[in-house]
Amino acid sequence: MPGRETEMAAGPGSKMVKGVAFVKSKSVQDAKNGPALFLDLVFRSESPGGPLREIPARLWEGADSVASRVEPGTLVYAEGQEIVFNGENQIRLARVQPLKANPEEIREYIPQTTLSVSSGMERLREYLESLEDTHLRSLGLGILSDPEVRAGLPLAPAAKKNHHATLGGLLEHTLEIMEMGHRIAPVLGLNRDLLLLGLFLHDIGKCWEISSQPGFSYTDEGRLVGHMYLGCEKVAQVARTIDGFPETYLRMVQHFILSHHGEFAYGSPVLPSTPEAMAVHFLDNLSGQVNAMRKVQPQDRDQWGFEKNRGAYIWKKGSDPATWDRSPIGQALRKVFER
Ligand SMILES: [Fe+2]
Ligand SMILES: [Fe+2]
Repeated sequence: MPGRETEMAAGPGSKMVKGVAFVKSKSVQDAKNGPALFLDLVFRSESPGGPLREIPARLWEGADSVASRVEPGTLVYAEGQEIVFNGENQIRLARVQPLKANPEEIREYIPQTTLSVSSGMERLREYLESLEDTHLRSLGLGILSDPEVRAGLPLAPAAKKNHHATLGGLLEHTLEIMEMGHRIAPVLGLNRDLLLLGLFLHDIGKCWEISSQPGFSYTDEGRLVGHMYLGCEKVAQVARTIDGFPETYLRMVQHFILSHHGEFAYGSPVLPSTPEAMAVHFLDNLSGQVNAMRKVQPQDRDQWGFEKNRGAYIWKKGSDPATWDRSPIGQALRKVFER
């Protein structure tokens, strides 16, 4: 099998890329000169254990015949020129060739959380055990010990692409916001029990919405009804097993799930109706946005990258004053940071 991704000098503003890549997704789309093959490829870096790099790739010539031989979830040998198009890095493919690979080889191209999953699950249990309200605590622990959640949560990604798109990403994202919720509840005078349970459950439906198999594709049920409905269904199912679980409690918990996207335009059928639900929405958003920003790859020597979703440029040096330059603006920023 040919080596990992390597780069060769090409014309100004572009570079040649060749190596083994994982096909995360595939589509054939109509372009001006006939069909074009759109792939999302994942390359491994040259250094062993180095980060994975996901990049869109396009094949304009012979797209139809190559498309019939290339499948998502498999490895290919890819060769082409990396360019910046519409602010985003992209590979213009010259060659794509399917490769045979066993599941272990493929797994090396699947991004994983850096969190220890067993200690993460334990930390989650501790948070839920700390809830004071008996009904809410029973519901949280009941869902955590549900066999499908026990099997799905340690693996599920939090998203297919945008943020925490790794094996175990949902657990990492959930713990991140529960940690924040635990800290801000007293600052904002929020009900800690409701807030922590809402944060735990807001995306729990993703255990069923997105497959944890290579490629993180949407499941049939995920496409048909989505993670909010799937989460509400699980909550209702477990609540029914708890003696005397109040109906209002069930609706309140389902409200966290249904309102967490914060706006109708982002898929929430209802808007946050309590301060705790508003906090769930903003903490979820904060965790997602910061993670999406961290994933952006630098495109030039000054370490600027482009986040397509928000249409924003990201300065990768921004969090590290030691790398700021000596220009007046660099000096001014350094002063602000060091104050
Ligand atoms: Fe969500
Ligand atoms: Fe989320």
